[in-house]
Amino acid sequence: MSAATLFDAMFRRSAPVTVRHPNGAEHRFDPIAWCHSRAGDEALLARCAGPTLDVGCGPGRLAGALAGRGCPTLGIDISETAVRLARRRGAAALRRDVFGRVPGEGRWQHLLLADGNIGIGGDPARLLRRCRRLLAPGGRLHVEAAAPGTAGWSGAAVADDGSRLPWACVPVDDLAALAAATAMRVLDTWTEADRWFATLTAH
Ligand SMILES: C[S@@+](CC[C@H](N)C(=O)[O-])C[C@H]1O[C@@H](n2cnc3c(N)ncnc32)[C@H](O)[C@@H]1O
Repeated sequence: MSAATLFDAMFRRSAPVTVRHPNGAEHRFDPIAWCHSRAGDEALLARCAGPTLDVGCGPGRLAGALAGRGCPTLGIDISETAVRLARRRGAAALRRDVFGRVPGEGRWQHLLLADGNIGIGGDPARLLRRCRRLLAPGGRLHVEAAAPGTAGWSGAAVADDGSRLPWACVPVDDLAALAAATAMRVLDTWTEADRWFATLTAH
């Protein structure tokens, strides 16, 4: 099962899915939680003061909120169902893989990797390099990471039904090294409601 099929099934069933990495780490995906605004969202949204690409927008909680504020925003997601739900929230959304062709490459002022989306693709360095290319010069990438001290992991994780999902978990205190390895740097980190965030920019 591809990542797109797995996420699409998650959104259609509206049921949480837990994946496990061979090192014993678990990651729980909860499509219901992504639909409702959460404490911590506001500080993330407030940082998006210009054209914003919401990478892995899911049902469009953040992309829809930005669109409602008049901020030019595009959500992209590999799940057809997620894109349909995001459009229902008033977000402009396209079915796109972040590693494929994306409109406005090199022109986005802000990029969002929220709800653990730094895990997309299972190779955070590759994802950060891709995000750097999507950003305009001076643009900012806002990342939600795991709590400091969390054991990071990357690679194929496995769901109960045996589906494999390339994913990663990056604690916020690993972001500076990851950014340095991808020609980026951390401008700011903050925490709210047990959520951890950082803003990165290219060197
Ligand atoms: C953890 S959920 C994030 C939910 C979302 N941020 C929200 O506010 O609801 C991960 C999302 O990333 C999408 N995704 C996974 N791999 C992707 C890829 N390569 N390109 C674009 N989206 C991807 C999934 O379909 C899923 O909707």
